[in-house]
Amino acid sequence: MISLGKIGALIAFFAIVIGAILVAVYGRANAPGQPIAFSHKIHAGDFKIACEYCHSYARRSTVAGVPSVARCMGCHKVTALDKPEVKKLADYWNRKEAIPWVKIFDQPDFVYFSHEPHVLKGIACQICHGPVEKMEKVREAVVLNMERCVNCHMERKASIDCWTCHK
Ligand code: HEC
Ligand code: HEC
Ligand code: HEC
Ligand code: HEC
Ligand code: HEC
Repeated sequence: MISLGKIGALIAFFAIVIGAILVAVYGRANAPGQPIAFSHKIHAGDFKIACEYCHSYARRSTVAGVPSVARCMGCHKVTALDKPEVKKLADYWNRKEAIPWVKIFDQPDFVYFSHEPHVLKGIACQICHGPVEKMEKVREAVVLNMERCVNCHMERKASIDCWTCHK
């Protein structure tokens, strides 16, 4: 006979296993594997390269944009050539291929967002994206749901008409 205590222990055991699987799955969903292990901590943190040096459209466009391979090679034709992940970068360059970066912050199609008005108002990247310069791997540290957008729009007296963000 299995005692109730043992059943309880079994249930607790499976709950822990399932919990661990969920953490693994969702943990990865928030910080997906990238084709090259690019570190913001090294580039934007240690070496203090400005965000807009790489995300150069943020100030003048809806998108912030991800840098081209050419932008990376501006430094990596000479920098850290011996590192395996930099060799991968050089392979993309030699094959004339774009790097298929996985997108992390992604709004549904029915949402209209533009970087330009926000960046021009001086809202720091980190307010919407978290302390990216401390991250080895970008994760969705801030969830940009409707409540967060609308709350800031109310605080800052920006438009909260539905059609501002849904057009
Ligand atoms: C007011 C909030 C806000 C600010 C400020 C902001 N972003 Fe974003 N960012 C977003 C949202 C929302 C998305 C997702 C857009 C989408 O999926 O349509 C995004 C997407 C991105 C992306 C993915 C590629 C793209 O362009 O969609 C990058 C890279 C990015 N932001 C970098 C930056 C940088 C660098 C800054 C500062 C110069 C910045 N962001 C400032 C909200 C913000
Ligand atoms: C302005 C110069 C500059 C640009 C632009 C630049 N990097 Fe780097 N990168 C560096 C420096 C400096 C290091 C640190 C070198 C070291 O540790 O010896 C580095 C390190 C690296 C590493 C090695 C990390 C490690 O320790 O294994 C990779 C991978 C890398 N960069 C990828 C990229 C990619 C991808 C891009 C383009 C999106 C890029 N870099 C753009 C300067 C740059
Ligand atoms: C040397 C170039 C470089 C610099 C400097 C840089 N980034 Fe990036 N950024 C990248 C690359 C490459 C990616 C795509 C790979 C990744 O997600 O790590 C990226 C991705 C991102 C994303 C996720 C975009 C998405 O897919 O949703 C955000 C947000 C972001 N960067 C913000 C910043 C902020 C904020 C700074 C300054 C603190 C900054 N970046 C500095 C190259 C750079
Ligand atoms: C931290 C504060 C803040 C957050 C968060 C924020 N916004 Fe804004 N947003 C502003 C401000 C301030 C303006 C007004 C800029 C101006 O007056 O030029 C603005 C303007 C806009 C505009 C342009 C409106 C127009 O009339 O041209 C759009 C579109 C927009 N925001 C969408 C969004 C969406 C979508 C989100 C969430 C994903 C968001 N915003 C999150 C502060 C914010
Ligand atoms: C400042 C930007 C902003 C404004 C203003 C705004 N929304 Fe949204 N809305 C969003 C964003 C971002 C999402 C997607 C993220 C989410 O679901 O929270 C969204 C999602 C939604 C959804 C889908 C909800 C769901 O659960 O999937 C509906 C419906 C919606 N909005 C209706 C409205 C209506 C109606 C108004 C006017 C009263 C409005 N929105 C005003 C930004 C905004």
